[in-house]
Amino acid sequence: MLVSFGVRLILYQHLHIVLIILSFVGHGDARVTSTFVRSEWPSTDIPLENEAFAIPKGHNAPQQVHITQGDYDGKAVIISWVTTAEPGPSKVQYGASKDNSEFTAEGTVTNYTFYNYKSGYIHHCLVDGLEYNTKYYYKIGVGDSSREFWFQTPPKIDPDASYTFGVIGDLGQTFNSLSTLEHYMQSGGQTVLYVGDLSYADRYTYNDVGIRWDSWGRFIERSTAYQPWIWSAGNHEIEYMPNMGEVLPFKSYLQRFSTPHTASNSSNPLWYAVRRASAHIIVLSSYSPFVKYTPQWMWLREELKKVDREKTPWLIILMHMPIYSSNLAHYMEGESMRAVFESWFVCFKVDLIFAGHVHAYERSYRISNIHYNVSSGDRYPVPDKSAPVYITVGDGGNQEGLAGRFWDPQPDYSAFREASYGHSTLEIRNRTHAFYHWNRNDDGKKVKTDSVVFYNQYWASNLHRRRGLQKSHCKL
Ligand SMILES: *[C@@H]1O[C@H](CO)[C@@H](O)[C@H](O)[C@H]1NC(C)=O
Ligand SMILES: *[C@@H]1O[C@H](CO)[C@@H](O)[C@H](O)[C@H]1NC(C)=O
Ligand SMILES: *[C@@H]1O[C@H](CO)[C@@H](O)[C@H](O)[C@H]1NC(C)=O
Ligand SMILES: *[C@@H]1O[C@H](CO)[C@@H](O)[C@H](O)[C@H]1NC(C)=O
Ligand SMILES: [Fe+2]
Repeated sequence: MLVSFGVRLILYQHLHIVLIILSFVGHGDARVTSTFVRSEWPSTDIPLENEAFAIPKGHNAPQQVHITQGDYDGKAVIISWVTTAEPGPSKVQYGASKDNSEFTAEGTVTNYTFYNYKSGYIHHCLVDGLEYNTKYYYKIGVGDSSREFWFQTPPKIDPDASYTFGVIGDLGQTFNSLSTLEHYMQSGGQTVLYVGDLSYADRYTYNDVGIRWDSWGRFIERSTAYQPWIWSAGNHEIEYMPNMGEVLPFKSYLQRFSTPHTASNSSNPLWYAVRRASAHIIVLSSYSPFVKYTPQWMWLREELKKVDREKTPWLIILMHMPIYSSNLAHYMEGESMRAVFESWFVCFKVDLIFAGHVHAYERSYRISNIHYNVSSGDRYPVPDKSAPVYITVGDGGNQEGLAGRFWDPQPDYSAFREASYGHSTLEIRNRTHAFYHWNRNDDGKKVKTDSVVFYNQYWASNLHRRRGLQKSHCKL
């Protein structure tokens, strides 16, 4: 404990070299390449014995507790945890008052191996039939080792329901990751939209892969036990490691992180949708087949038809690989998904598309490149009022460090970019307004750096366009 405190103190002292020059490129528009320079904290993972990964006390005490939405509309949660000594019950006791856990739900237990690593007993328990806008207390484990947490259900689906989402990506388990997590927890965010690349356990080999998934589970518990994180998977979840005999993609991720995919009639936990408050959130998998006629493509086509902007005005998509990014890292890796889905995103007037993968922050203007095809058409993204805003938040703070180099000059489509660690918050106020911030981790304080008001793509446009959208004129 003393050691870790000392290390962090030194790290904070090195953060004072801070220089902010906002360079405005272009002719009176507001494109920004922030040249904020931070001295990077060492991009190494927190040592396993650090208190950030503390193992809860008591025989077989539940650890790595995390919850996610458990149904389509927010009246259920899936509660997950791990026990290490023996399976123990998969039971959740819960209720709306602290002292009276009047309800019980029964879950399932599973375990898996990865190389010679044997996982603990992984429990997933669906708790459904909840009331909206209610604080629930829940208890897992047995006797002295039992643990209690709480969560708050969202308001019922309503076009004017206010709700605050956090957006975090590429978190990992370094001191930078801890800083991001702590800053997020002070933000007032009620649910995290997670844009892939979770533990970075695949940076390890052999048994350490599983061990670093466990440490990550304990690391994030401080937030994930109390509010849902809506998961999407990134390349670091693939874990294709034939040299260790591990060739089943997403093995650890799928065992450990449950998603409510069947509620949106998805055949695969890697892509699904949930509705929460006034938002319809679609999760895509950048590393699963998505070209025409594949299951993901067919599912998305059906899901887009179900979106009802009269009920959920805010249409948000999560994926790992960004479609528009002007960072040199992973440049154009999202081009194949752009070619397949961009015309749908524009036609359905998606409000926001969040991605990670690139370890920096970037926000686009509303632009599209749907006129370009292999035989003809404009080759450049053009301003397009119907297009989504693309936001990359791959700067959670993992051990790979920052992607500090952007294309110069800044392309017209790029509104704001900065290579620093941080997270975003999206405060949906009502059917027309959402207040968005990207918050840089700075010197132990949360610094709001990029702030924008988003006007809803459906309700803030005129009635004529609304009617057009309602008639589902989009070619699918
Ligand atoms: C799961 O746990 C049981 C009981 O400890 C054990 O017998 C079994 O081998 C484990 N399965 C895997 C896949 O590790
Ligand atoms: C899923 O499919 C079933 C059967 O076709 C249908 O009744 C249900 O409404 C669908 N659920 C969603 C969320 O689309
Ligand atoms: C390709 O672009 C041309 C010119 O914009 C357009 O006429 C044509 O319909 C496009 N083809 C496809 C398949 O989108
Ligand atoms: C939505 O919230 C904004 C900002 O608080 C406010 O100006 C606007 O009038 C509200 N719109 C509706 C339809 O309530
Ligand atoms: Fe990634």
